[in-house]
Amino acid sequence: MINFSYCTPTRIVFGKGVVEKLPEVLNPFGKRVLMTYGGGSIKRNGLYDKVKNLLNDFEVFELPGIEPNPKYTQSVVPGVQMCKEHHIDVILAVGGGSVLDCSKAIAAGACYDGEPWDLITYQVKTQAALPIVDIMTLAATGSEYDAASVISRSETNDKVGYIDPHLYPAVSLLDPEYTFTIPPKHTRAGIADAMNHVMEQFFAEPYTALNDGMCIAALKSLMLNAPKVLADPNDYEARAEVFYTCTLACNGIFCNGNGHSGWPMHGIEHALSAYYDITHGEGLAIITPRWMKQILNEKTVGRFVTYGTMLFGIDANLAPMEIAELAIRKTYDFFKELGIPMTLREVGIDDQRLGEMAHHIAVNEGLEDAWAPLNEEDILEILKASL
Ligand code: NZQ
Ligand code: ZN
Repeated sequence: MINFSYCTPTRIVFGKGVVEKLPEVLNPFGKRVLMTYGGGSIKRNGLYDKVKNLLNDFEVFELPGIEPNPKYTQSVVPGVQMCKEHHIDVILAVGGGSVLDCSKAIAAGACYDGEPWDLITYQVKTQAALPIVDIMTLAATGSEYDAASVISRSETNDKVGYIDPHLYPAVSLLDPEYTFTIPPKHTRAGIADAMNHVMEQFFAEPYTALNDGMCIAALKSLMLNAPKVLADPNDYEARAEVFYTCTLACNGIFCNGNGHSGWPMHGIEHALSAYYDITHGEGLAIITPRWMKQILNEKTVGRFVTYGTMLFGIDANLAPMEIAELAIRKTYDFFKELGIPMTLREVGIDDQRLGEMAHHIAVNEGLEDAWAPLNEEDILEILKASL
């Protein structure tokens, strides 16, 4: 077990009706609020009106229109300007992971005199950020309980993971009822994203039985509840369990003491989203079984045996390679049966830019140092196998 330091300063308030607590939650931070949101889902499901009514005693400025795969130039920069111009005290992010990620970058940029991109790319160390409160409406990223912000810059095909302790939300208000309206496409993609977060922590060495148990329990919870939320989007118990599992899945608590995997599937997917603006969770589902096949060898097979026997109940008496191959097939089948597009072509990616993307990933993602190292050629193989 390796040394670790762990602290999540975010308060989670979870359950039916928790949005009512918004005024008392915001009050300690000040009265001038920047409310950020996306393309309109919160207006359609009534959350926007609810929040505005609750904030009668606050001065609320709005930054709407934050897109999936949130964009630096279109959303982060104007958000930072608004914070500075209006002397914002606290940011209230209402929406999915993209809205919250964008808000985190804005919160840090608002406390910095230079170009926010310097912070996002670690050229300058983040020293401070405005407090962030969120009402997360999509079960997926776990951004509501982590210190990460993923920002895209279309001009340079960059999609950058920016992680800093200042980016933890102060409070996350999580009401599963506001996840009832997530469309099936994003319900599926969110579950695939969270499952992948768990796998990125599981496939590493060293590892512990405790972390393995937590990872497998999280995967089982998501796989059990996925068909339920798709069959009945208003199934509160299933939506709640999916939501809370997603919240925990990206926080790092499942891998304290483990070795670091290098998050290879995310490294690859971020390039797919950066070049083609695809949905993150769909890209991950496509990459996952192909990455597994590519890295399966005598050195890695042990992890697949644990994964296959614990998650899918595969007979432990079979040969290790056989267990691993079965486990990979079952992973693919689960995503496929859920209704996720499982090839790059289905999400609009052909073979034109695979080489360019493989090069971009090899240069920018440091995957040669991953638990299962990947060079440019390996990455290209994974992309080709995903077509
Ligand atoms: O924009 P609106 O109209 O709000 O619609 C959104 C959007 O179209 C819609 N939506 C959200 N909540 C809804 C809803 N529709 C109906 N009812 C609701 N309750 O869903 C669409 C997708 O939203 P988005 O925020 O983009 O999805 P998600 O939460 O999956 O976030 C994806 C982004 O997070 C990054 C991804 O790379 C991607 O950019 N990630 C962030 C991480 C983190 N901060 O830790 C980790 C992840 O690995 C991931 O990389
Ligand atoms: Zn993810």
